Amino acid sequence: MHELSLHLLRATQHAACAAERWVGRGEPKNADHAAVEALRRELLHAPGAGTVVIGEGAKDKAPMLYNGEPVGTGEGDPFDVAVDPLENTKACAKAVEGAISVAAVAPGGTLLASPGWYMDKLVVGPAAAGLIDIEAPLTETLGTVAKASGKRVEDVLVVVLDKPRHEELINDVRAAGARAMLLPEGDVLGSLEALRPDGDADVLLGVGGAPEGVISACAARLLGGDMQARLTPRSDEERQLLADAGQSEGARLTLDDLASSDEGCFMATGVTRSGLLAGPEPHASGGRRTQSFVATRGQPDLTVDAVCQDPTVTNSQGGTGA
Ligand code: FBP
Repeated sequence: MHELSLHLLRATQHAACAAERWVGRGEPKNADHAAVEALRRELLHAPGAGTVVIGEGAKDKAPMLYNGEPVGTGEGDPFDVAVDPLENTKACAKAVEGAISVAAVAPGGTLLASPGWYMDKLVVGPAAAGLIDIEAPLTETLGTVAKASGKRVEDVLVVVLDKPRHEELINDVRAAGARAMLLPEGDVLGSLEALRPDGDADVLLGVGGAPEGVISACAARLLGGDMQARLTPRSDEERQLLADAGQSEGARLTLDDLASSDEGCFMATGVTRSGLLAGPEPHASGGRRTQSFVATRGQPDLTVDAVCQDPTVTNSQGGTGA
């Protein structure tokens, strides 16, 4: 898994550098395409017989690594990949904060393989791990999170995507006395706010992309947090895809259902700046300095700076996170 994780890191670094050429150009599809191609190129050299089990792109008719796509050299252990080469394409297109390239790998057969596009999510940090139930009433969940973190409900900060579909949820969070952190896009970074020891939030709630959900579940696994979800199709086409795959709409998925192995790894490289990561910057060598958040079993919270020379990363410097 160690060698595989290095390939995955290089893949998100290259994808971030490829997408960065499109930052601020108002062309999200081209940015996505560049990131997909760069990530695919690098993953082809990864050791093992990999399969993309859940990828992003179908819901937005965007360029994508398709579900079931083989990656890796094909020789060695099987592994699963959940991937979003450019997460928060709008932030990239508009040159605002929050675009990342993100992926997770885990031993074969341990990540949820789903054709679903959307998922209702509940993500918490280590304090509330093992205590959550996505079917519980909101007030109960907020009470559980508050008690587990030694806070008052009034101090609990809930990350929610700022979408019309969440209007009622946001009102309910506030009516229960808690606070809402509203992100325009990007619920992988939102999940990390709840999962990381020095993240700003306590819990993430609401409906977002299914690939982003499985990727976040890997992070939850590695950071000692917890997550539950439900597949929540938002169109007949998506509903049919789930039915064809024999997957139930609305059934509770636990962290074990989403990502059942502790042996995975999670990598996110900044495309534009965010609270967590810098975007690529010019380096004297002619390459780009990238910044990545890395979670592996041994090192669940690491920040890695590296200079990325297309097509190889030539100089790697580690810096620890919390
Ligand atoms: P993209 O990578 O497609 O830009 O996703 C951004 C995002 O905000 C995700 O973080 C989130 O899971 C999803 O979109 C929500 O989907 P939608 O924008 O359709 O509500």
